[in-house]
Amino acid sequence: MKEIKQFDVIILGGGLAGIYTALNIDASLHVGIFVKDALARGSSNLAQGGIAAEVNWDETKIEEHYEDTLRAGAYVNNPQATRIMVEEASKNIKKLIEIGVHFDTNEDGSLIMTLEGGHRSRRILHAGGDDTGAHMMHDLRSILNQHQNIDIYEDEMAIEILHNDNKALGVIVINQQNEEVYVLANKIVLATGGIGGIYKKSTNEKIACGDGIAMAYRAGVTIKNMEFVQFHPTGFYVEDQIGKTFLISEAVRGEGGILRNIEGVRFMEKYDKERMELAPRDVVSQAIHREMFDTWSDHVYLDITHKSKEFLMNRFPTIYQYCLEHGIDISKEYIPVSPVEHFLCGGIDTDVSGHTSMQNLYAIGECANTGVHGANRLASNSLLECIVFGGRVAEEINQEKDTFGKINVVLPDLTFTHKKFNFKDIRVEIRDVMSKYGFIVRKEEDLLLAKKLLTKHYHNLKKINVFSRYYYETLNMVTVALIIIEQALERKESIGCHFRLS
Ligand code: SIN
Repeated sequence: MKEIKQFDVIILGGGLAGIYTALNIDASLHVGIFVKDALARGSSNLAQGGIAAEVNWDETKIEEHYEDTLRAGAYVNNPQATRIMVEEASKNIKKLIEIGVHFDTNEDGSLIMTLEGGHRSRRILHAGGDDTGAHMMHDLRSILNQHQNIDIYEDEMAIEILHNDNKALGVIVINQQNEEVYVLANKIVLATGGIGGIYKKSTNEKIACGDGIAMAYRAGVTIKNMEFVQFHPTGFYVEDQIGKTFLISEAVRGEGGILRNIEGVRFMEKYDKERMELAPRDVVSQAIHREMFDTWSDHVYLDITHKSKEFLMNRFPTIYQYCLEHGIDISKEYIPVSPVEHFLCGGIDTDVSGHTSMQNLYAIGECANTGVHGANRLASNSLLECIVFGGRVAEEINQEKDTFGKINVVLPDLTFTHKKFNFKDIRVEIRDVMSKYGFIVRKEEDLLLAKKLLTKHYHNLKKINVFSRYYYETLNMVTVALIIIEQALERKESIGCHFRLS
């Protein structure tokens, strides 16, 4: 007998996008949030810099935010979605504050704003200095607990979307007891985050395996712009370290940080005379990559030593402490940094209300391709995207609530094998392949080789149907890696964070 659960709405993912959507859904609707790990353990929690928003209605400033976003995105952004994002920023920030999310303020209560690469003015709110995501998620978690209509299922991983005639009906979940549960819903929201787990080094947690994107792909949903993987210029460098990499926020450059090569020479002038260290991330990461190549080294330095210890301890308490624990007093010494995977600009294709190409299926946050980031995301626009489009998805769902009813579905007769394989070698190889051939600089012959290696694993995994988290995570990783490589092969020109040498 198969276990069946039914909700009005299910949300897969417990980061800012998922939680904010849930909080905006009408209280009369029964919502289930499913996360494969712990709630709020994803990338939102790790966001340091902040959230970009022109909080006071000022048309000139909003227009500038719009233009900065397009310029960073190499003008391949969706202009309509981008305009919506910058114009609806203020109302959603106000809502966050109203429901109890705290941002850093001056003594007079006004919000403190910082600067990051690609922004022409100070428009980035933050919390806890450089611990914005963790502070926001902490506040949101307790707000969520007051909502009786929302149930949270942690350590429960969705593995497949149930659908019929291009209409989503629910998902299959592996529950905490390792059993198969069929979770049905009128509306399904994917908010499953990014893909950092397919690279050797990423600012994401290793659990970021592109699960939602891969599941949507298997269900035939349109996936776009996957070649636009953003590499953050300043991951904290530790020799031979792999896995999750500590981020040195772009806000450090916003506050005057200078990039120097291994010889101590400032170099950004060669690459972007006008914006220097505050050029967008694609430009800075590619410049660092070139500089590392020319100096036969695997890192550069970020120099903030001209700021006082007191300023640094107050403004960047997390970074200051982390570096100190790793032997660097940032008020006296340069910080070793190198580019690492950070963010996926593309994903599951959506319209401006979060609809995907499948009826009743929505996508929001990093797993979605709303089009607002174009070929390269502007700093601190990711949390903004989560709240603006999360709010819009909730609004859409609320408007349709009167049509909701019991879902009738003939459950598929899936046969799984139950093996304890952990597929570790395959995961290691996926990360090697992506870090070598799908990194900052891409070449035709490398991409073709990557495609060949990944295709072999993809077909081998597809042949077996193992009922385990390991199996699905590995299958999802190889699926998204393959889509990135295939879409990178299709795009012959260099644009934004997709740099083609041949
Ligand atoms: C950072 O603080 O540099 C990261 C913020 C972001 O990814 O926008």
